[in-house]
Amino acid sequence: MEQMLALEMVRVTEAAAIASARYMGRGAKDEADLAATEAMRRTMDELEMSGTIVIGEGERDQAPMLYIGEQVGRRDQADRRAITEIDIAVDPLEGTNLVAHGQANAITVLAASERGGLLHAPDTYLEKLCVGPVAAGKVDIRLSPTENLARIASALGRGINDITVIILDRPRHEKLIAEVREAGARIKLISDGDLSAAISCAVSGTGIHAVMGIGGAPEGVITAAALRCLGGEIQARFRFRNDDERKRALKMGAADEDHVYTTEELASGENLVFAATGVTEGDLLNGVRFFGGGARTHSLVMGYRSKQVRFVDTVHMFDRNRPPSVRL
Ligand code: FBP
Repeated sequence: MEQMLALEMVRVTEAAAIASARYMGRGAKDEADLAATEAMRRTMDELEMSGTIVIGEGERDQAPMLYIGEQVGRRDQADRRAITEIDIAVDPLEGTNLVAHGQANAITVLAASERGGLLHAPDTYLEKLCVGPVAAGKVDIRLSPTENLARIASALGRGINDITVIILDRPRHEKLIAEVREAGARIKLISDGDLSAAISCAVSGTGIHAVMGIGGAPEGVITAAALRCLGGEIQARFRFRNDDERKRALKMGAADEDHVYTTEELASGENLVFAATGVTEGDLLNGVRFFGGGARTHSLVMGYRSKQVRFVDTVHMFDRNRPPSVRL
């Protein structure tokens, strides 16, 4: 199921990327997000699956589409048994502001699993520590950033000053940034997109070695799915913004702030599938390129069980009567 599903799922992230890329640099983040969401929703219904959105655009009363609990997919009633029952976590557009300003690293992304394989994370924050395969198993979020940097450096066989960490540029990270600087590591401060950053730290050649700091919890679950496929690691703890959020999350079954979630707890599925497509140019993926009669997209598609990581370069022909010439 997994391999078929992975290749089908990439059509969903590709469609969302093409739709939202039209808004690049136009200062319209909500429009870009809506275009991605609509395209993702529409394309999902073309796939033969019985999907349930477990992480999406919000609760049913807040989001018209891809809301939590929404059923997606083409469920042919003729043969219900043949249809794959899956849970899906989506971020139709990670980096709405990045697209609005024409900045790097916006992606469309989703993860899917057999039922129950993705944590139903409440819409709050997680403190995250993400590393690639070489440093996986060597870090501990309960230790200081300085200690973790030393462990990452030692795992990679280099000095701390040869390590690059990505941190979201937020006032809440002032202390973290000061400590990482003091420890001597290089920092790439980003305005948005800690999910795409976390994938980069698990792909060698990107020059990124870790992601640290507090970001969205839903993004954390999708990150875990990607890092399981890549052999990397995320450790995370809830960071609630207020008491209401804490109460709601605990009622949903979330653990308190002391519990350290492992990669496997966030994304426990054995049939995990992950797909992401670049919207704007990025460290890992090219952005959407439009040309007369078509567009070209660049995606990452992975399966946990299949142990396959594919970079998919697709030419989309919009008009059969005016096909673009396909170039290498
Ligand atoms: P968008 O979904 O608006 O594109 O934002 C994505 C993001 O930057 C994530 O990458 C990150 O986890 C989260 O938002 C950070 O949240 P905040 O902007 O509240 O600090």
